[in-house]
Amino acid sequence: ESKNLSVDHRLTEVCELLEKNIPYYDWVGFYFKNGDKNELKLRAFAGEPTDHLIIPFGKGICGQVAVTNKNFVVPDVKAQDNYIACSIYVKAEIVVPLFVNGENIGQIDIDSHTADPFSKEDELFLEFVNEEIAKILG
Ligand code: SME
Repeated sequence: ESKNLSVDHRLTEVCELLEKNIPYYDWVGFYFKNGDKNELKLRAFAGEPTDHLIIPFGKGICGQVAVTNKNFVVPDVKAQDNYIACSIYVKAEIVVPLFVNGENIGQIDIDSHTADPFSKEDELFLEFVNEEIAKILG
């Protein structure tokens, strides 16, 4: 449907903008809850294609954020037991949930090739990005 196509296009543009302009953002994607299923589905991204188009709730950093509704900052992915590796180059990750009308409907996920790059500023910035995205998802 055309409205969803244009939203997907805009989500991809947001991913590209972030990936191109923030040196330590090496992969940027949006995962959303997949209908009624207890899983996330990749909807838009910038960076290398990933095999992980579907992530079950609870699995990996993304799947955990789907159930906790909390930001998850990972300074060192090697220190995580419940982690899904997308690329051997990834050293750190941040996932921030996206709320529409108070409901966690998806998330922004960023991988970094830099060790421990994410600060509270990234969290606040990505919360702001998600609030803006929530307005176009309505
Ligand atoms: N590392 C994520 C999987 C998604 S990829 O980073 C694109 C995780 O552990 O949930």
